Amino acid sequence: MKNNLIKIFNYNDVKDNKPYEIEIKNKKLLLIKVNNDLHVISNYCLHKGAPLSKGKITDNVVECPWHGCKWNLITGENNHNSMKLKKYDYKLINNGIYIHDF
Ligand code: FES
Repeated sequence: MKNNLIKIFNYNDVKDNKPYEIEIKNKKLLLIKVNNDLHVISNYCLHKGAPLSKGKITDNVVECPWHGCKWNLITGENNHNSMKLKKYDYKLINNGIYIHDF
């Protein structure tokens, strides 16, 4: 159902700068909190599909663990071409992090 929310994690369990891979409906998402900003973004590198949750995080950038492409967690853009990772809007409700069903 498109307008429903899906709980993906407990906010209090999110540690700073630690990437979490979350699988929902066969989609892999990356959840991470950097500088107190929470990001929910596709965990699938658009080059060859590496899991970005295994990459190195520096400020708001995750570096792909396979070939080094750098993805901006805020915009979803990379330093190489015009591809963009899908970002997911989220809502905090009590202690839960929710995204819209897809
Ligand atoms: S798979 Fe990510 S840069 Fe190649």
